[in-house]
Amino acid sequence: MADRDYVLGTHDDEIYRLGFQHRVWRPRALDAWTRARIGDGSKVIDFGAGPGFATMDLAEIVGPTGAVYAIERSRRFLDTLEAQAKARGMTQVTAHEVDISTDAIPVTNADAAWVRWVFAFLPDPKAALKKLVDALRPGGALVIHEYIDYQTWRLSPRAPNFERFVDEVVSNWRGSGGEPDIGRDLPAWLMDLGLKLESFKPHVDIVSKDDNVWRWPIGFFDIHIDRLLELNRITPQLAKDMRDEFARVSAQPGTLMVTPLVIEIVARK
Ligand SMILES: C[S@@+](CC[C@H](N)C(=O)[O-])C[C@H]1O[C@@H](n2cnc3c(N)ncnc32)[C@H](O)[C@@H]1O
Repeated sequence: MADRDYVLGTHDDEIYRLGFQHRVWRPRALDAWTRARIGDGSKVIDFGAGPGFATMDLAEIVGPTGAVYAIERSRRFLDTLEAQAKARGMTQVTAHEVDISTDAIPVTNADAAWVRWVFAFLPDPKAALKKLVDALRPGGALVIHEYIDYQTWRLSPRAPNFERFVDEVVSNWRGSGGEPDIGRDLPAWLMDLGLKLESFKPHVDIVSKDDNVWRWPIGFFDIHIDRLLELNRITPQLAKDMRDEFARVSAQPGTLMVTPLVIEIVARK
């Protein structure tokens, strides 16, 4: 399947965005992995690994006696991931060019799996979840970060064009066969598959533009306006209005941003 089929693209800007996003989210991922008891020697699946930013952190945690299996469809992302692993001498990392929707997962008896912002893009996420659960050993852990309410992403004071942008993102996402708020479905599906739900956490921030976290969703805003234009989902005039309004509102002292709400799930087979 062509790389462009990933709704957010696989160009260099998207690789940079995913890297920055990982730097913002890394403390939460590390904390969740610790609670899931991922450690030295663990064999871990990074499901929908992208260019491998979390993969490299997992590789450090599991060490040379562990294994990290990066499962990803995009060849371009896997090239970045393999180059990083090679440069850092991480032989415990293996890259697997797999389309989660159509292919088998080439791993069995894994101790754990990590999934962040992947189920939301799949046409049949429940089938993918089952394949992933099948790849875990009994007692293996599943750690998930997915959106549960994307439209909490708002500015204060209100900015109608910004809200329109978020709504367009959501409808483009659904039009591409995904479901941004997939976090609402996952707990019930996990229980259907016989997993024990160990913990849940909401992750949401309210930040001013001086906060490093501000740049995480805003980086997406900048890139994705161009993407929506490319896809003819918005007009050049609307794109300009969105940018102008954002520049005006974000220049006002006291403007705050609420981030899209993520659910963290730690479950055990
Ligand atoms: C938002 S990115 C998240 C990447 C990574 N998990 C992270 O947190 O940085 C979603 C990833 O899922 C991958 N993906 C989407 N659909 C896929 C499929 N059917 N098979 C394999 N990977 C897929 C995309 O190529 C992309 O790398």
